[in-house]
Amino acid sequence: MKITTETILAMKARGEKIAALTAYDYPMTKLLDEAGVPLLLVGDSLGMVVLGYPDTTPVTMAEMEHHVRAAARAQPHALLGADLPFQSYETVANAVENAGRLAAAGAEFVKAEGGREILPQLKAIVAAGIPFCGHLGMLPQHVLEEGGYHIKGKKEAEHQALLEDAMALAEAGAFAIVLELVTPPVAKEISARISVPTIGIGSGPDCDGQILVTHDLTGSFPWFTPRFVKPRANCAAEIKSAVAAWRAAIAAPAK
Ligand code: KIV
Repeated sequence: MKITTETILAMKARGEKIAALTAYDYPMTKLLDEAGVPLLLVGDSLGMVVLGYPDTTPVTMAEMEHHVRAAARAQPHALLGADLPFQSYETVANAVENAGRLAAAGAEFVKAEGGREILPQLKAIVAAGIPFCGHLGMLPQHVLEEGGYHIKGKKEAEHQALLEDAMALAEAGAFAIVLELVTPPVAKEISARISVPTIGIGSGPDCDGQILVTHDLTGSFPWFTPRFVKPRANCAAEIKSAVAAWRAAIAAPAK
């Protein structure tokens, strides 16, 4: 059955944990869908794990559309969303235009980073009929100005700001909110205080769901693994060993 934003909201209401992963192309979207993951995201993390950029800030709308189209061709049962990339939602007008481009490419929701400062964009996107997912805590599109990936919520002022941002996003119509690198007690409190699901990444076990970059989970990007990820496979090693075996076989064909 096709997963919708209502399905995701109902999972929170039932206390069922929501598994979410990133997917950037047709085969991975198909595999993750066949594995039963209900929520898939064409994240702008593709900038690092697919395109070789140092962070997400160089990712363009054209690159996002290209990958959303590829993922959407898998026609997943999962709800498939996409990130609005850096500087693509600076104004209400360009937020709505770019959300529309991602929806036209096949995204069933869009995600953007930020709290109360992006409420006008959120409301306009939802009013245009495109479901919206929030993203609070460490905001990767701000990594350059913040000078790194820092945990959020340790200071009381940050704790309060996160809580108020989460409540404002939920009230304005976000159907879910990603919490990235938020201290686990604050992530737990936010999850208990808002009616829409929180999807945590590096934010402890008490979020309503968990999301990971699939390359981190599957050991497909061995040059960097975030501290909070326990890879469940070593795909990089499998690829290298398959290639080594094939090279050996063609160098010395069986007679
Ligand atoms: O870009 C991304 O993949 C993300 C998720 C990991 C939350 O924002």
